[in-house]
Amino acid sequence: MTKIGIIGVGYWGPNLVRNFESLPNCEVVAICDLDPANIDNITKRYPRVNDYDNIDAMFGQEDLDAVVIATPTATHHGLAKRALEAGLHVFVEKPLTVTSEQSQELIDIAAAKGLIVFVGHIFLHSAPVQKLRELIASGELGEISYISCRRLNLGPVRSDVSALYDLATHDISIVLHLLGQQPVDVNCQGLDYIKDNVHDVVNLTMKFPNNKMGMIHCSWLDPRKERVITVVGDQKMAVYDDLGEEKIRIYDKGVNLHSKSGELAEFKLSYRHGDMYSPWFKQGEPLKTECSEFVRCIIEGDTPRTDGVNGLQVVEVLEAANESLLNNGCSISIDSKIVV
Ligand SMILES: NC(=O)c1ccc[n+]([C@@H]2O[C@H](COP(=O)([O-])OP(=O)(O)OC[C@H]3O[C@@H](n4cnc5c(N)ncnc54)[C@H](O)[C@@H]3O)[C@@H](O)[C@H]2O)c1
Repeated sequence: MTKIGIIGVGYWGPNLVRNFESLPNCEVVAICDLDPANIDNITKRYPRVNDYDNIDAMFGQEDLDAVVIATPTATHHGLAKRALEAGLHVFVEKPLTVTSEQSQELIDIAAAKGLIVFVGHIFLHSAPVQKLRELIASGELGEISYISCRRLNLGPVRSDVSALYDLATHDISIVLHLLGQQPVDVNCQGLDYIKDNVHDVVNLTMKFPNNKMGMIHCSWLDPRKERVITVVGDQKMAVYDDLGEEKIRIYDKGVNLHSKSGELAEFKLSYRHGDMYSPWFKQGEPLKTECSEFVRCIIEGDTPRTDGVNGLQVVEVLEAANESLLNNGCSISIDSKIVV
Protein backbone atom coordinates (compact mmCIF):
# COMPACT_ATOMS: atom_id res chain seq x y z
CA MET A 1 0.00 0.00 0.00
CA THR A 2 1.38 3.38 -1.00
CA LYS A 3 0.86 5.77 1.91
CA ILE A 4 -0.13 9.27 0.86
CA GLY A 5 -0.44 12.61 2.66
CA ILE A 6 -2.46 15.39 1.07
CA ILE A 7 -1.41 19.01 1.70
CA GLY A 8 -4.16 21.56 1.01
CA VAL A 9 -7.81 20.51 1.21
CA GLY A 10 -9.56 23.71 0.10
CA TYR A 11 -11.56 23.61 -3.14
CA TRP A 12 -9.58 21.03 -5.18
CA GLY A 13 -7.86 18.94 -2.48
CA PRO A 14 -11.05 17.06 -1.45
CA ASN A 15 -11.35 15.73 -5.04
CA LEU A 16 -7.83 14.37 -4.74
CA VAL A 17 -8.62 12.78 -1.36
CA ARG A 18 -11.72 11.09 -2.85
CA ASN A 19 -9.87 9.78 -5.90
CA PHE A 20 -6.78 8.49 -4.07
CA GLU A 21 -9.09 6.86 -1.51
CA SER A 22 -10.92 5.05 -4.31
CA LEU A 23 -7.72 3.33 -5.56
CA PRO A 24 -6.96 -0.21 -4.39
CA ASN A 25 -3.17 0.19 -4.09
CA CYS A 26 -2.91 3.34 -1.97
CA GLU A 27 -4.23 4.89 1.19
CA VAL A 28 -4.63 8.52 2.27
CA VAL A 29 -3.21 8.34 5.79
CA ALA A 30 -2.93 12.07 6.57
CA ILE A 31 -4.01 15.52 5.48
CA CYS A 32 -2.52 18.92 6.27
CA ASP A 33 -4.13 22.35 5.98
CA LEU A 34 -3.82 25.73 7.71
CA ASP A 35 -7.59 26.14 7.85
CA PRO A 36 -9.35 24.06 10.56
CA ALA A 37 -12.72 24.32 8.75
CA ASN A 38 -11.23 22.68 5.63
CA ILE A 39 -9.66 19.94 7.81
CA ASP A 40 -13.03 19.27 9.49
CA ASN A 41 -14.67 18.95 6.12
CA ILE A 42 -12.40 15.96 5.34
CA THR A 43 -12.16 14.32 8.77
CA LYS A 44 -15.98 14.25 9.00
CA ARG A 45 -16.04 12.09 5.85
CA TYR A 46 -12.80 10.16 6.47
CA PRO A 47 -12.50 9.81 10.29
CA ARG A 48 -9.54 7.40 9.99
CA VAL A 49 -7.31 10.04 8.32
CA ASN A 50 -4.89 11.87 10.65
CA ASP A 51 -4.85 15.66 10.36
CA TYR A 52 -2.12 18.28 10.79
CA ASP A 53 -1.85 22.04 10.58
CA ASN A 54 1.80 22.05 9.46
CA ILE A 55 3.91 19.77 7.31
CA ASP A 56 6.78 19.40 9.81
CA ALA A 57 4.44 17.69 12.28
CA MET A 58 3.01 15.52 9.48
CA PHE A 59 6.46 14.49 8.18
CA GLY A 60 7.65 13.85 11.76
CA GLN A 61 4.78 11.58 12.78
CA GLU A 62 3.67 9.78 9.62
CA ASP A 63 5.41 7.04 7.67
CA LEU A 64 4.55 8.41 4.19
CA ASP A 65 5.68 7.36 0.71
CA ALA A 66 4.37 10.44 -1.09
CA VAL A 67 2.57 13.75 -0.74
CA VAL A 68 0.06 15.52 -2.94
CA ILE A 69 0.23 19.33 -2.89
CA ALA A 70 -2.99 21.23 -3.64
CA THR A 71 -2.20 24.61 -2.10
CA PRO A 72 -1.97 28.06 -3.77
CA THR A 73 0.61 28.24 -6.59
CA ALA A 74 3.07 30.48 -4.71
CA THR A 75 3.48 27.80 -2.02
CA HIS A 76 4.14 24.84 -4.41
CA HIS A 77 7.92 25.22 -4.64
CA GLY A 78 8.59 25.54 -0.89
CA LEU A 79 6.30 22.68 0.11
CA ALA A 80 7.49 20.34 -2.69
CA LYS A 81 11.14 21.07 -1.88
CA ARG A 82 10.62 20.17 1.79
CA ALA A 83 8.76 16.99 0.85
CA LEU A 84 11.50 15.88 -1.57
CA GLU A 85 14.16 16.64 1.02
CA ALA A 86 12.20 14.43 3.43
CA GLY A 87 12.52 11.60 0.85
CA LEU A 88 8.93 11.67 -0.42
CA HIS A 89 7.59 11.43 -3.99
CA VAL A 90 5.53 14.53 -4.83
CA PHE A 91 2.41 15.19 -6.86
CA VAL A 92 2.13 18.97 -7.30
CA GLU A 93 -1.02 20.59 -8.62
CA LYS A 94 -0.65 22.76 -11.72
CA PRO A 95 1.32 24.87 -12.35
CA LEU A 96 4.40 23.17 -10.89
CA THR A 97 5.94 26.45 -9.66
CA VAL A 98 5.90 30.17 -10.44
CA THR A 99 9.38 30.30 -12.03
CA SER A 100 11.35 27.87 -14.18
CA GLU A 101 14.32 28.16 -11.82
CA GLN A 102 12.13 26.76 -9.01
CA SER A 103 10.90 23.90 -11.24
CA GLN A 104 14.48 23.05 -12.23
CA GLU A 105 15.49 22.95 -8.56
CA LEU A 106 12.73 20.43 -7.78
CA ILE A 107 13.73 18.29 -10.78
CA ASP A 108 17.37 18.28 -9.63
CA ILE A 109 16.55 17.33 -6.02
CA ALA A 110 14.21 14.55 -7.18
CA ALA A 111 16.81 13.18 -9.62
CA ALA A 112 19.52 13.15 -6.95
CA LYS A 113 17.24 11.25 -4.56
CA GLY A 114 15.55 8.94 -7.10
CA LEU A 115 12.11 10.45 -6.40
CA ILE A 116 9.19 11.27 -8.68
CA VAL A 117 7.89 14.76 -9.37
CA PHE A 118 4.42 14.45 -10.87
CA VAL A 119 2.51 17.55 -12.05
CA GLY A 120 -1.28 17.86 -12.08
CA HIS A 121 -1.65 18.56 -15.81
CA ILE A 122 -4.94 16.71 -15.69
CA PHE A 123 -5.83 16.99 -19.39
CA LEU A 124 -2.74 15.00 -20.37
CA HIS A 125 -4.46 12.08 -18.64
CA SER A 126 -7.80 12.64 -20.39
CA ALA A 127 -9.14 10.46 -23.20
CA PRO A 128 -10.13 13.31 -25.60
CA VAL A 129 -6.66 14.87 -25.49
CA GLN A 130 -5.06 11.48 -26.09
CA LYS A 131 -7.46 10.95 -29.01
CA LEU A 132 -6.47 14.33 -30.50
CA ARG A 133 -2.81 13.39 -30.15
CA GLU A 134 -3.44 10.09 -31.94
CA LEU A 135 -5.30 11.90 -34.75
CA ILE A 136 -2.38 14.28 -35.23
CA ALA A 137 0.25 11.51 -35.04
CA SER A 138 -1.63 9.32 -37.54
CA GLY A 139 -1.52 12.15 -40.11
CA GLU A 140 -5.32 12.15 -40.52
CA LEU A 141 -5.49 15.92 -40.01
CA GLY A 142 -2.46 16.52 -42.28
CA GLU A 143 0.08 19.23 -41.50
CA ILE A 144 -1.10 21.19 -38.43
CA SER A 145 -1.12 24.95 -38.87
CA TYR A 146 -2.70 26.09 -35.62
CA ILE A 147 -4.45 25.08 -32.43
CA SER A 148 -6.82 27.51 -30.78
CA CYS A 149 -8.23 27.16 -27.25
CA ARG A 150 -11.06 28.95 -25.48
CA ARG A 151 -11.48 28.45 -21.72
CA LEU A 152 -14.17 30.85 -20.54
CA ASN A 153 -16.66 31.12 -17.68
CA LEU A 154 -18.09 33.52 -15.11
CA GLY A 155 -15.68 32.72 -12.24
CA PRO A 156 -14.28 31.26 -10.19
CA VAL A 157 -12.21 34.43 -9.77
CA ARG A 158 -8.83 33.98 -8.07
CA SER A 159 -6.91 36.66 -6.25
CA ASP A 160 -3.55 34.87 -5.87
CA VAL A 161 -2.80 34.15 -9.55
CA SER A 162 -4.00 35.54 -12.89
CA ALA A 163 -6.14 33.72 -15.42
CA LEU A 164 -2.85 33.02 -17.22
CA TYR A 165 -1.45 30.90 -14.37
CA ASP A 166 -4.84 29.52 -13.31
CA LEU A 167 -6.59 28.73 -16.60
CA ALA A 168 -4.14 29.01 -19.51
CA THR A 169 -1.82 26.50 -17.78
CA HIS A 170 -4.24 23.75 -18.85
CA ASP A 171 -4.25 24.84 -22.50
CA ILE A 172 -0.49 25.41 -22.64
CA SER A 173 0.04 21.86 -21.37
CA ILE A 174 -2.41 20.53 -23.99
CA VAL A 175 -0.95 22.46 -26.96
CA LEU A 176 2.65 21.51 -26.05
CA HIS A 177 1.58 17.87 -25.73
CA LEU A 178 -0.28 17.89 -29.05
CA LEU A 179 2.51 19.58 -31.02
CA GLY A 180 5.33 17.87 -29.09
CA GLN A 181 7.37 21.09 -29.16
CA GLN A 182 8.25 24.18 -27.13
CA PRO A 183 7.22 27.53 -28.67
CA VAL A 184 9.99 29.81 -29.89
CA ASP A 185 8.23 32.97 -28.78
CA VAL A 186 5.06 34.18 -27.11
CA ASN A 187 2.89 37.30 -26.91
CA CYS A 188 0.32 37.79 -24.21
CA GLN A 189 -2.13 40.59 -23.56
CA GLY A 190 -4.80 40.88 -20.91
CA LEU A 191 -6.86 43.03 -18.62
CA ASP A 192 -6.85 43.28 -14.83
CA TYR A 193 -10.38 44.52 -14.11
CA ILE A 194 -10.92 43.18 -10.59
CA LYS A 195 -7.51 43.39 -8.92
CA ASP A 196 -4.37 45.22 -10.08
CA ASN A 197 -1.87 42.94 -11.81
CA VAL A 198 -4.10 39.85 -11.46
CA HIS A 199 -5.35 39.55 -15.02
CA ASP A 200 -8.90 38.26 -15.42
CA VAL A 201 -8.75 37.97 -19.21
CA VAL A 202 -5.75 36.86 -21.24
CA ASN A 203 -4.96 36.25 -24.89
CA LEU A 204 -1.81 34.25 -25.45
CA THR A 205 -0.20 33.52 -28.80
CA MET A 206 2.60 30.96 -29.05
CA LYS A 207 4.72 30.61 -32.19
CA PHE A 208 6.24 27.19 -32.83
CA PRO A 209 8.94 26.07 -35.26
CA ASN A 210 7.74 25.21 -38.80
CA ASN A 211 5.17 28.02 -38.94
CA LYS A 212 2.74 26.58 -36.39
CA MET A 213 0.76 28.59 -33.88
CA GLY A 214 -1.15 28.10 -30.64
CA MET A 215 -3.72 30.67 -29.51
CA ILE A 216 -5.29 30.66 -26.06
CA HIS A 217 -8.13 32.87 -24.86
CA CYS A 218 -9.01 32.54 -21.15
CA SER A 219 -11.34 34.50 -18.93
CA TRP A 220 -13.28 34.19 -15.71
CA LEU A 221 -15.46 37.19 -16.69
CA ASP A 222 -17.40 35.56 -19.52
CA PRO A 223 -21.17 34.97 -19.46
CA ARG A 224 -21.02 31.39 -20.84
CA LYS A 225 -18.87 28.41 -19.95
CA GLU A 226 -16.76 27.30 -22.92
CA ARG A 227 -14.03 24.66 -23.12
CA VAL A 228 -13.21 24.34 -26.81
CA ILE A 229 -10.01 23.39 -28.62
CA THR A 230 -9.80 23.54 -32.42
CA VAL A 231 -6.98 21.82 -34.28
CA VAL A 232 -6.59 22.99 -37.87
CA GLY A 233 -4.72 20.75 -40.27
CA ASP A 234 -4.36 21.03 -44.04
CA GLN A 235 -6.33 17.79 -44.55
CA LYS A 236 -8.97 17.86 -41.80
CA MET A 237 -9.91 19.87 -38.73
CA ALA A 238 -10.87 18.63 -35.28
CA VAL A 239 -12.94 20.38 -32.63
CA TYR A 240 -12.82 19.16 -29.02
CA ASP A 241 -15.68 20.53 -26.94
CA ASP A 242 -15.22 19.31 -23.39
CA LEU A 243 -18.81 20.27 -22.51
CA GLY A 244 -20.37 18.71 -25.62
CA GLU A 245 -22.05 15.33 -25.85
CA GLU A 246 -19.76 14.40 -28.74
CA LYS A 247 -16.42 15.47 -27.31
CA ILE A 248 -14.52 15.40 -30.61
CA ARG A 249 -15.81 16.18 -34.10
CA ILE A 250 -13.65 15.78 -37.17
CA TYR A 251 -14.44 17.97 -40.17
CA ASP A 252 -13.30 17.06 -43.66
CA LYS A 253 -13.00 20.73 -44.56
CA GLY A 254 -10.20 22.82 -45.94
CA VAL A 255 -8.94 25.41 -48.36
CA ASN A 256 -7.00 24.29 -51.42
CA LEU A 257 -4.67 26.85 -52.92
CA HIS A 258 -4.14 26.26 -56.65
CA SER A 259 -1.91 29.21 -57.47
CA LYS A 260 -0.11 31.69 -55.27
CA SER A 261 1.04 34.39 -57.63
CA GLY A 262 0.91 38.02 -56.48
CA GLU A 263 -1.65 38.80 -59.19
CA LEU A 264 -5.21 38.77 -57.88
CA ALA A 265 -6.47 37.03 -61.03
CA GLU A 266 -4.11 34.12 -60.43
CA PHE A 267 -4.86 33.70 -56.73
CA LYS A 268 -7.07 30.63 -57.06
CA LEU A 269 -8.67 28.89 -54.09
CA SER A 270 -11.26 26.20 -53.62
CA TYR A 271 -13.06 25.31 -50.42
CA ARG A 272 -13.62 21.70 -49.45
CA HIS A 273 -16.81 20.95 -47.52
CA GLY A 274 -16.85 17.23 -46.75
CA ASP A 275 -18.31 14.99 -44.06
CA MET A 276 -18.15 15.43 -40.32
CA TYR A 277 -17.86 12.50 -37.92
CA SER A 278 -17.40 11.99 -34.21
CA PRO A 279 -14.97 9.19 -33.29
CA TRP A 280 -15.83 6.81 -30.45
CA PHE A 281 -13.30 6.40 -27.67
CA LYS A 282 -13.46 5.12 -24.13
CA GLN A 283 -14.01 7.90 -21.62
CA GLY A 284 -12.85 7.78 -18.01
CA GLU A 285 -12.55 10.20 -15.12
CA PRO A 286 -9.30 12.08 -15.89
CA LEU A 287 -8.62 12.85 -12.22
CA LYS A 288 -8.90 9.18 -11.29
CA THR A 289 -6.59 8.22 -14.17
CA GLU A 290 -4.14 10.92 -13.07
CA CYS A 291 -4.11 9.73 -9.43
CA SER A 292 -3.72 6.10 -10.45
CA GLU A 293 -0.84 7.03 -12.81
CA PHE A 294 1.01 8.70 -9.93
CA VAL A 295 0.71 5.58 -7.77
CA ARG A 296 1.60 3.26 -10.67
CA CYS A 297 4.76 5.29 -11.43
CA ILE A 298 5.81 5.10 -7.75
CA ILE A 299 5.23 1.33 -7.58
CA GLU A 300 6.81 0.52 -10.97
CA GLY A 301 9.55 3.18 -10.85
CA ASP A 302 8.25 4.61 -14.13
CA THR A 303 8.61 8.19 -15.43
CA PRO A 304 5.23 9.92 -15.61
CA ARG A 305 4.00 11.66 -18.78
CA THR A 306 3.47 14.71 -16.55
CA ASP A 307 6.87 14.60 -14.85
CA GLY A 308 8.89 17.53 -13.53
CA VAL A 309 10.35 18.25 -16.98
CA ASN A 310 6.84 18.45 -18.42
CA GLY A 311 5.96 20.82 -15.57
CA LEU A 312 9.03 22.93 -16.35
CA GLN A 313 8.11 23.13 -20.06
CA VAL A 314 4.77 24.68 -19.13
CA VAL A 315 6.25 27.01 -16.48
CA GLU A 316 8.83 28.23 -19.03
CA VAL A 317 5.97 29.32 -21.31
CA LEU A 318 3.97 30.83 -18.41
CA GLU A 319 6.99 32.83 -17.27
CA ALA A 320 7.61 34.26 -20.75
CA ALA A 321 3.88 34.92 -21.26
CA ASN A 322 3.69 36.74 -17.94
CA GLU A 323 6.66 38.93 -18.91
CA SER A 324 4.85 39.77 -22.14
CA LEU A 325 1.59 40.41 -20.25
CA LEU A 326 3.32 42.90 -17.95
CA ASN A 327 5.02 44.60 -20.93
CA ASN A 328 2.01 45.38 -23.07
CA GLY A 329 2.09 42.18 -25.09
CA CYS A 330 5.61 42.50 -26.50
CA SER A 331 7.14 39.42 -28.05
CA ILE A 332 9.25 37.33 -25.64
CA SER A 333 11.48 34.65 -27.09
CA ILE A 334 11.86 31.32 -25.35
CA ASP A 335 15.41 30.15 -25.46
CA SER A 336 14.49 26.76 -24.11
CA LYS A 337 17.23 24.70 -22.57
CA ILE A 338 14.89 21.77 -22.12
CA VAL A 339 15.43 18.73 -24.30
CA VAL A 340 11.99 17.43 -25.24
N1 LIG B 1 -6.49 20.32 -11.95
C1 LIG B 1 -7.48 21.16 -11.86
O1 LIG B 1 -8.40 21.16 -12.67
C2 LIG B 1 -7.50 22.14 -10.71
C3 LIG B 1 -8.69 22.76 -10.34
C4 LIG B 1 -8.66 23.66 -9.28
C5 LIG B 1 -7.46 23.94 -8.62
N2 LIG B 1 -6.33 23.31 -9.03
C6 LIG B 1 -5.05 23.61 -8.36
O2 LIG B 1 -5.10 23.18 -7.00
C7 LIG B 1 -4.35 24.05 -6.17
C8 LIG B 1 -5.24 24.55 -5.05
O3 LIG B 1 -6.32 25.26 -5.59
P1 LIG B 1 -7.69 25.43 -4.76
O4 LIG B 1 -8.66 26.01 -5.73
O5 LIG B 1 -8.03 24.19 -4.06
O6 LIG B 1 -7.24 26.56 -3.71
P2 LIG B 1 -7.91 26.85 -2.30
O7 LIG B 1 -7.43 28.21 -1.91
O8 LIG B 1 -9.38 26.59 -2.34
O9 LIG B 1 -7.27 25.75 -1.32
C9 LIG B 1 -5.94 25.79 -0.94
C10 LIG B 1 -5.81 25.19 0.46
O10 LIG B 1 -4.43 25.13 0.80
C11 LIG B 1 -4.30 25.50 2.17
N3 LIG B 1 -2.92 25.96 2.39
C12 LIG B 1 -2.33 27.11 1.97
N4 LIG B 1 -1.04 27.13 2.35
C13 LIG B 1 -0.80 25.97 3.03
C14 LIG B 1 0.35 25.43 3.67
N5 LIG B 1 1.52 26.09 3.69
N6 LIG B 1 0.22 24.22 4.27
C15 LIG B 1 -0.95 23.56 4.28
N7 LIG B 1 -2.08 24.03 3.68
C16 LIG B 1 -2.00 25.23 3.07
C17 LIG B 1 -5.35 26.58 2.38
O11 LIG B 1 -5.69 26.71 3.75
C18 LIG B 1 -6.51 26.02 1.54
O12 LIG B 1 -7.35 25.19 2.30
C19 LIG B 1 -3.82 25.16 -7.08
O13 LIG B 1 -2.52 24.81 -7.47
C20 LIG B 1 -4.74 25.10 -8.29
O14 LIG B 1 -4.12 25.53 -9.49
C21 LIG B 1 -6.33 22.41 -10.02
